[in-house]
Amino acid sequence: MALRKILTEGDETLTKVCRPVGEVTDRIRMILDDMADTMHDANGVGLAAPQVGIPRRMFIVQIDPEGPMYELINPEIVETSGEQYGEEGCLSVPGYVGMVKRPNYVKIKGLDRNGDSVEYEGEELLARAFMHEYDHLDGILYTKKADDIHYADSEEE
Ligand code: NI
Repeated sequence: MALRKILTEGDETLTKVCRPVGEVTDRIRMILDDMADTMHDANGVGLAAPQVGIPRRMFIVQIDPEGPMYELINPEIVETSGEQYGEEGCLSVPGYVGMVKRPNYVKIKGLDRNGDSVEYEGEELLARAFMHEYDHLDGILYTKKADDIHYADSEEE
């Protein structure tokens, strides 16, 4: 259990196409645990490995603190449909939000922390989170796709 430093826009690691995870080892599981701690500490709903300086293809998503934690290693988008346009932020672009068009439905597959194949479906916010985190693995920040990027009203300290 440890917090890792979240890299911010401008860091080269965030622009790289990440390499696949070779084998799902204890080290990978430890990184996933650290990523969860780091994401929760920052009140985020998703975090990709490159955001903590590890250019490997894996990310976590948890859109509801009481809901499931999705962990995806070497994810692949299986299917997308529909369209949504909504506000998005990123822990690597602190304080800002922007409007991004995303599919409204995503089916995604990959490996879980045991190295077993998993497949998840997401709609609305979950679909948005999967697509946002997946983009990180290709070195794409939402700011590349967003309209109207602006400083968010600070409702919370
Ligand atoms: Ni992000």
